[in-house]
Amino acid sequence: MGRRTTDPPITWLMQTALSRPGLISLAAGFTDNPTLPARATRQLLDRLLSRRATAEPALQYGSTAGDPRLRRLTAERLAALEAAAVGQLPAAVRTLCAPGGSPCQPAEPDAARLLMTHGSQQLLYLVAEALCDPGDIVLVEDPTYFVWLGIVQSHGLQCRGVAMEPDGLSLPHLAQVLDELRQAGQLPRVKLLYTVSYHQNPSGITTAFHKKAAILELLRDCERRAGHPIYILEDAAYRELRFSGPDEPSYLALPGAADRVIHSSTFSKPFATGIRVGWGLLPAVLYQAAVRLKGNHDFGTACLLQHLLAEALASGEYERHLAGLRRRYARKAQILAGAMREHLPDSLSWQDPAGGLYIWAKLPGKTRTGLRSPLFQAALDHGLLYVPGELCYAPDPARQRPANELGLSFGNATEPDLREGIRRLGQAWRGLKTK
Ligand SMILES: Cc1ncc(COP(=O)(O)O)c(C=O)c1O
Repeated sequence: MGRRTTDPPITWLMQTALSRPGLISLAAGFTDNPTLPARATRQLLDRLLSRRATAEPALQYGSTAGDPRLRRLTAERLAALEAAAVGQLPAAVRTLCAPGGSPCQPAEPDAARLLMTHGSQQLLYLVAEALCDPGDIVLVEDPTYFVWLGIVQSHGLQCRGVAMEPDGLSLPHLAQVLDELRQAGQLPRVKLLYTVSYHQNPSGITTAFHKKAAILELLRDCERRAGHPIYILEDAAYRELRFSGPDEPSYLALPGAADRVIHSSTFSKPFATGIRVGWGLLPAVLYQAAVRLKGNHDFGTACLLQHLLAEALASGEYERHLAGLRRRYARKAQILAGAMREHLPDSLSWQDPAGGLYIWAKLPGKTRTGLRSPLFQAALDHGLLYVPGELCYAPDPARQRPANELGLSFGNATEPDLREGIRRLGQAWRGLKTK
């Protein structure tokens, strides 16, 4: 496993950013520094540690599955999100999504199947570890979260990429990929579909609920030939960072989802990335396996941090913080998109984000964006780092990676740096054209 695992591209991108003072990085998924909740965290910790009754359990080992209070509060929060999202679905979509006629229902997440992890990254890792053997196949979105591709590589898994549309996976392409796998006799190796279904990293795309229903059904149709369940790993890391448009229900609202859907999310993005607490709601059969594996990893996520988050949720501090964060990212997204309109050629296309931290841009056909491309080098020379789009495509022999896309994040850069970074990118691009 050690030999299979190479440095993730993020390491190189971060080293590059650090080694060039003055470089503006719109590449990393870091969050906004000035909004990190320093004062609220100090007050919450103070409250927690000022009485022995609350300090002792926070400073002691806990259980592998996580702090019961945080698990309960997390399940309640998810239930509330789901109820609101299902409540605003048009009636036609509610019934359309229910094969056999029974309308979909808001999920009632069971805290007994909720596992707290060290960042949601650990949950993603545990799922791969629990489910997959080397040579197994995972279906991924094109493009996808490139750190997931590191997990895939470590475990010796193969990927099949499925094209994305502005409202989520392309259903005809998913059907085609599944059909090709069936014809090649490879369905028994397909273990799961990994999807970042809200404000996706890197594309910003949110999957429409009616598509989720169709995707679950397509996968179920393949299970007899696969000989086992095919799971959906729904990564909802950015769900709470929505700043416009309605929230979509998760896969959990679909009939039959409880034993097919692994739902993961995190407190990193909506509260503080440094706290590194994430969680997953798993089907019962996978839950025990994941808890045992987590026992091998670390026998439990840091209690102090879990108790801190439970306090943040129970006191309303979390919700208050999140409301401010949403306003902040809405503004930063607008600034980034505005700078792109001002400084970059009209031939560039992208979808304005409704949440999350990212804008994904497509350049005209022949303009390359990769690590060795003239544009990437020129952007570096002008002091700007972006994510070359090809890094976000899984290795898949069935298709070529598009080489003319790039990822930009408005998470960490300051407002002036967002404007200046895009001005530099525009300069770099125009410089190429005049050469
Ligand atoms: C799509 C996605 N999933 C999961 C994670 C992991 O985040 P964390 O481990 O902080 O919860 C990230 C982090 O950037 C992400 O972008």
